[in-house]
Amino acid sequence: MNIDVFTLFPEWFGWFSSQRHVSNVLAGGSSLACVNLREHTPLSGGQVDDTPFGGGAGMVLRVDVLDSALRGHYGLDPVELRGQRRVIALAPGGRLLDDALVDELAAEPALTLLCGRYEGFDERILDHLASDVVSIGRYVLSGGELAAMVICDAVLRKLPGALGHADSAAEESFSAALEGQPEYPHYTRPAEYRGWKVPDVLLSGHHERIEHWRRERSRERAGGAGSQPEGR
Ligand code: 6GU
Repeated sequence: MNIDVFTLFPEWFGWFSSQRHVSNVLAGGSSLACVNLREHTPLSGGQVDDTPFGGGAGMVLRVDVLDSALRGHYGLDPVELRGQRRVIALAPGGRLLDDALVDELAAEPALTLLCGRYEGFDERILDHLASDVVSIGRYVLSGGELAAMVICDAVLRKLPGALGHADSAAEESFSAALEGQPEYPHYTRPAEYRGWKVPDVLLSGHHERIEHWRRERSRERAGGAGSQPEGR
């Protein structure tokens, strides 16, 4: 997986890339590179944004700046580029990120993530330069960088080598192995703490019963947030 992030704050990603689960995947042949929009702008003084036509607060990321940054980096007309790889603009109104979309993105050989700032993107970026618009939730962040990291984290941990245990990603919450349902509860030592006991079945060593119990709890959790599993 090769991910390029177009951003005004490339330094934010240094910390992210150095986290163990990320650096493990990167060591396995994946890449996470940042392109600084300011270094690619055709405008003077590193200008990347402008006031909105029609008036209003805030600044809008310019379409010519994004066009030139993508063209400069890939040596290709971005309108063609978006037919060749996923070019994902991060915006609060986009397609909501969920496990199915993460799987879809993890199956791609390469991703380009576009981080907007201020009031966001000139709409023509979304219409003509991006192949996708993705949001991580219905609230507004001050820029796409944190959303880009959320996507990178969720995608990279699906790749081989990210997690210590090979099966961890396959059976976690919302995955197809759990039929799209939330994960079952986990417990570890001590088996009893302040009178709070770990369910007996998990200490039984009986794999079939444990498996059955886990599926049941997972199904119960799907029944609604806050629903209490029986037997606890
Ligand atoms: Cl992708 N971008 C911004 N700026 N805000 C968001 C978001 C993205 N997803 C939720 N809020």
